[in-house]
Amino acid sequence: MPRIYLETYGCQMNVADSELVSGVLDREGYVRTDDPTEADVLLVNTCAVRDHAEQRVLGRMGELKRYKRPGVVLGVIGCMAQRLGPKLLERVPQVDLVIGPDGYRGLPELISRARAGGRTADVEFRSWEHYEDVPPVRPAAASSFVTVQRGCDYRCTFCVVPMTRGPERSRTLEDVVGEVTRLVATGTTEVTLLGQTVNSYNDGAHDFADLLRAVGAVAGVRRVRFTSPYPTDFTDRVLAAMAETVAVCEHVHLPVQSGSSRVLRRMLRRYTRERYLAVVDALRAAVPGIALSTDIIVGFPGETEAEFAATLSLVEQVGFDDAYTFKYSAREGTPAVKLTDHVPDGVAGERLERLIALVRTVARRRNMALVGTTHEVLVEGRARRGGLLQARTRNNKIALVDGPDGWVGTYRHVRLTGTTGSTFTAWPVGEEAAVWA
Ligand code: SAH
Ligand code: F3S
Repeated sequence: MPRIYLETYGCQMNVADSELVSGVLDREGYVRTDDPTEADVLLVNTCAVRDHAEQRVLGRMGELKRYKRPGVVLGVIGCMAQRLGPKLLERVPQVDLVIGPDGYRGLPELISRARAGGRTADVEFRSWEHYEDVPPVRPAAASSFVTVQRGCDYRCTFCVVPMTRGPERSRTLEDVVGEVTRLVATGTTEVTLLGQTVNSYNDGAHDFADLLRAVGAVAGVRRVRFTSPYPTDFTDRVLAAMAETVAVCEHVHLPVQSGSSRVLRRMLRRYTRERYLAVVDALRAAVPGIALSTDIIVGFPGETEAEFAATLSLVEQVGFDDAYTFKYSAREGTPAVKLTDHVPDGVAGERLERLIALVRTVARRRNMALVGTTHEVLVEGRARRGGLLQARTRNNKIALVDGPDGWVGTYRHVRLTGTTGSTFTAWPVGEEAAVWA
């Protein structure tokens, strides 16, 4: 049987796409291998959001070409493949095929073509493509990702995603519910719905509120998460569905990007600082105790010290539980590259450090306040260090707890006993404590 080695970079949607790619190749008789030396096809699923992500992939290609024995096919797929297309074939001579996120169906054909000596780039957008007939191949797990929307119709001026993933399109609610039902049959109890602006989901007949309720109603689904929503797409219907659907977890990742309304305008985000804060209030009113995380960019062109200070003050004011922080990276072809008032790299780096320090302080304060509280956790596996089990609360906190392997994939009740500032130690409570004591 031919063997495929597949490495995945970037966001959760790339992880889900890699499962689709495995599905496409599974039908052709391929099996996955973790060992590149024995692979017949080597694929790298890539990210293009920041230059750093692309540089890492280029470095990795340099290493992977070592495994290219005669007849072995090396391919680059995903967002960087889409962005660079045929240029990637010129730039890395060992690469045989380049396929964007809408072209995975064509993989078997392009692999045969590569074996016959042809080098191809397929970067066509197919706005109908949902891979509905391709069963994703993924490890049976308590927690699974389900893509509900592909592409993005927003035009944030810094962002390459609309150029790499094409126009927004939603799967039908029936198809999503069908996939979730099949996942439950293989042991999944927690699903994370994926889309670039996932709460703008609309299949023509149903909105995101309908989707949340329908997925939450699938027998056996205990937790529903989603990422990433767009701040202004939380309609009253969506808020009500979140509040009324028991399975929907008390955590939202709500990318803000900046705390300055002027910077937000230049980013073409469709809200001001005040509007964002109003969305935060609405979420907290609808879902008491909800945890909020975010994405923030520093050093966007023209960002002044005062505007950066507005981002710091927003982090304080919202009290985020967590934040992913990035230094602005200019992406060729995006509208923001035309802005010439660059923030010097040293200034951006120094802002990033101050922001990270504040995010940590704010998160620690919130987490300290949770010590002593009791939570239902899903046990995800053994922690990398220390031999404890790693578990996740509904509000997305990671708790380390002592327990047997048999707890992996199950729900337990724990009391949070301490925090490092970001993660927690925890102790089983109730029945579980008695069993394990
Ligand atoms: N809508 C997607 C955004 C994908 S990009 C989602 O919400 O998941 C993920 C994050 O990367 C963005 O929220 C932004 O904070 C960051 N990002 C995107 N483009 C960037 C750029 N050019 N430079 C720095 N960070 C960027
Ligand atoms: Fe990018 Fe903005 Fe869409 S961040 S993915 S263009 S919502």
